[in-house]
Amino acid sequence: MMPRKRHVFLLWLFVCSSMTEAIEPISTTIAVGMAAALTGFLASYQNIFYYFHECCRPEWISLNKTGLRTDLEEKLFGQHIASRIILKAVNGFMNNESPKKPLVLSLHGWTGTGKNFVSKLIAENIYKEGLNSKFVHVFASTLHFPHQGQLATYKSQLQHWIKGNVSNCERSMFIFDEMDKMHPGLIDSIKPYLDYYDKLEGVSYRKSIFIFLSNAGGDSIIQTALDFWRAGRSRDEIELKDLETSLSLSVFNNQKSACGFFHTSLIDKNLVDFFVPFLPLEYQHVVQCTMSEMKHRDQKPDRDVADQVARDLVYFPKSERVFSVKGCKTIESKLDYYT
Ligand SMILES: *[C@@H]1O[C@H](CO)[C@@H](O)[C@H](O)[C@H]1NC(C)=O
Ligand SMILES: *[C@@H]1O[C@H](CO)[C@@H](O)[C@H](O)[C@H]1NC(C)=O
Repeated sequence: MMPRKRHVFLLWLFVCSSMTEAIEPISTTIAVGMAAALTGFLASYQNIFYYFHECCRPEWISLNKTGLRTDLEEKLFGQHIASRIILKAVNGFMNNESPKKPLVLSLHGWTGTGKNFVSKLIAENIYKEGLNSKFVHVFASTLHFPHQGQLATYKSQLQHWIKGNVSNCERSMFIFDEMDKMHPGLIDSIKPYLDYYDKLEGVSYRKSIFIFLSNAGGDSIIQTALDFWRAGRSRDEIELKDLETSLSLSVFNNQKSACGFFHTSLIDKNLVDFFVPFLPLEYQHVVQCTMSEMKHRDQKPDRDVADQVARDLVYFPKSERVFSVKGCKTIESKLDYYT
């Protein structure tokens, strides 16, 4: 068994390109000799190898275009605008062999509308390991950067992490949750990585993906959705341009409740490639979420139960009860209770 294991290990050195430095001490002649000797083993061990060690290679990182489209169509409810933008943005970026800058998506909307969920779908359709991939990094402001006083430490730490991780793998993904609670100084510190630079200190960030999640602009999105509803117009008629103006206005003006994001020049420097609005969810979407969750649990989707779950949620505005206050967020625990 021992020799086999060693072969697998050596193979690992050869296949993971980031490990090539590790074989440098060995003289080139020996290395070439070993490579030749190993060639015979390559074919047979390749599958085993790929199966066990996540590498920064297309076998582990590549977009499943069909997968992303299907997931957005079948698992995300009530978000026709977000769905369309995400698919187009991610497809375009991943198909581009030499992007000029990293892909920067800013997801906006109220709680429970699917921002985290969409990030997960993107990760799962690019990285075989999804959110568990060692190339996907999730930061939440209140968890990772809780103390204002330690801003300087957070800044250098975050810069180190981004640089270190992208040096390891240019196809890295960074998700920043609660972006509206993030200190402006901290946002400033990541700006260089989002910009149009060929390389920064020898590292290229142009194939990385940054996703920002925030509630900022959520109120103005709700207002637009409500205006459509009150005018008796279909929600599907809402277009990006109906939201864009009010979104960017509220993002600029609302400096008190959503500090951070707006004091910085992320927006005026055009570092964000796509603003992605998430609409507030209605009764019918809560029903869809519940049915989907039942399917996910291998239960037979039961419309009566779904209706019951949806009926017991809280809706706003008080008089009209159009939108679910928590979107689809509490469905999972509610379902435990009803079934
Ligand atoms: C891509 O996604 C589809 C739909 O989810 C799935 O059936 C297929 O196996 C995936 N392809 C790869 C290469 O993972
Ligand atoms: C990559 O990022 C993680 C945080 O997600 C950090 O703990 C790790 O040290 C970083 N790796 C490098 C090489 O900087």
